Amino acid sequence: MNYNELTRRLKAVSPDAFELEAEILLEAFSDKKIAYILAHREEEIGSQELFSALKRRENREPLQYIIGKWEFFRQEYFVDENCLIPRSDTEILVERAIELLPRNAHFLDLCTGSGCIAVSTLAERVDTSAVMVDKFPKTLEIAIKNASHNGVSDRVEPMLFDVLSDENALEGKKFDAILSNPPYIRPEVIENLSDEVKHEPYAALYGGEDGLIFYNRIVENYSKFLKDEGFILFEIGYDQADDLKKIAEKHGYSCSIYKDYGGNDRVAYLKK
Ligand SMILES: C[S@@+](CC[C@H](N)C(=O)[O-])C[C@H]1O[C@@H](n2cnc3c(N)ncnc32)[C@H](O)[C@@H]1O
Repeated sequence: MNYNELTRRLKAVSPDAFELEAEILLEAFSDKKIAYILAHREEEIGSQELFSALKRRENREPLQYIIGKWEFFRQEYFVDENCLIPRSDTEILVERAIELLPRNAHFLDLCTGSGCIAVSTLAERVDTSAVMVDKFPKTLEIAIKNASHNGVSDRVEPMLFDVLSDENALEGKKFDAILSNPPYIRPEVIENLSDEVKHEPYAALYGGEDGLIFYNRIVENYSKFLKDEGFILFEIGYDQADDLKKIAEKHGYSCSIYKDYGGNDRVAYLKK
């Protein structure tokens, strides 16, 4: 296989980003320099690793799982099929957290996945500490590995429990903030997502029949773990702002909405 064939095959999978994908795969699976390959596009570049990576990509596996890592905020994260791939839209929540957390804050990251929210916030705000929670052992293992990779292990406590039912695991703890990007997609929407997203864990996407189960439970069951001045930052779907305002109002919170880089509603800020 040469560069021309690689890009031709990737174009069928990813018409808008095939050249970038080719470079990322070559960087991961070829020992030749990209500049050399681009200058010698007919030259053989095939390695067994590159062939199997291309096959996986042709099977619509996300590029991030194939190379096993991804950038989020200013940090690098290990990712595999046990965790959601960190999205740039989620960086909005991290930006708000960095800005709003008080000095020496202790915060809770519910549904942590790769750990990207807790770890990037901790990495940028070196005065803070956190608890990060996921239900799945293999997912929490990735978050722990990412905390270590980004030098924040000593300031984060990983906890394995079901956010929907086992909040008592936090008995005796108090937090300055709850940060969470929980599963929030309705089942009929999941069915129509891209083949790539369908490789991501269903449990990371499914937010109950109305997409709101985690927001309702978290506001209802975790407010008692917030200090008086505490707040909640949720990532939300582009069409969930009104629902979040209703949930906030029902529990005596004010609710402000922040937009993502694409102009969509993306983060809800709940404050008593
Ligand atoms: C939308 S992903 C978000 C991951 C990460 N916070 C991010 O922003 O990329 C939701 C996460 O919630 C976890 N999860 C799903 N159901 C859960 C539950 N009942 N209790 C705790 N975590 C759960 C999934 O394993 C997944 O890692």
